[in-house]
Amino acid sequence: MVKEQLESRGIRDEAVLSAMRKVERHLFVPSDLVDFAYADRPLPIGHDQTISQPYIVAYMTEVAKLKPGDRVLEIGTGSGYQAAVLAEIVSKVYSVEILEPLAVSAEKRFKSLGYDNVCVKLGDGYKGWEEFAPYEAIIVTAAPPKIPEKLLEQLAIGGRAVMPVGSIYQELYLITRTEGGYNRETLLPVRFVPMVHDKD
Ligand SMILES: C[S@@+](CC[C@H](N)C(=O)[O-])C[C@H]1O[C@@H](n2cnc3c(N)ncnc32)[C@H](O)[C@@H]1O
Repeated sequence: MVKEQLESRGIRDEAVLSAMRKVERHLFVPSDLVDFAYADRPLPIGHDQTISQPYIVAYMTEVAKLKPGDRVLEIGTGSGYQAAVLAEIVSKVYSVEILEPLAVSAEKRFKSLGYDNVCVKLGDGYKGWEEFAPYEAIIVTAAPPKIPEKLLEQLAIGGRAVMPVGSIYQELYLITRTEGGYNRETLLPVRFVPMVHDKD
């Protein structure tokens, strides 16, 4: 997977490649899909949600330019795969998931795999996780129709947010917080599940 899907498409960051080698994707997919765990595509994880394509996980992690001491906020825990990749690189990962069964199963998985540097919160990612802000990086793995300002406020100066934005047509943005505001770069067209709102 790493050689054929990541290195061949230009992923070069050694920390990212090493994390992608180390985290076993078959431990994050439903048991009936284990045979497809290393395929070049997203896979269903139940509740109409997906585990992202390995290349997209690696790409988003690489463009976030992470450093070992960083604290990262992830929105959309899902299976926990992206959070585990982040946890191999940085000191602390805070991950917010809106669907309770996914939050609960991801938390169990982190415990059983020994990821004690990942914290999961059941809640609406549009609110971020204020308590531990600011974050050096924010990775959003569901697509909001427009950039959630509240999330950007939780980014440290110099911090990077990587997020898909859009409804039918989505693009991946890299947003960097500067002293004076935010710089936005459009990276590539993507297709993520929608980032939904809490009922209340
Ligand atoms: C593509 S999946 C995430 C994949 C996940 N990062 C992984 O590695 O398996 C998107 C996730 O975002 C969650 N989600 C959607 N809207 C959300 C919101 N407002 N706040 C938090 N999570 C949300 C979905 O329930 C789903 O689990």
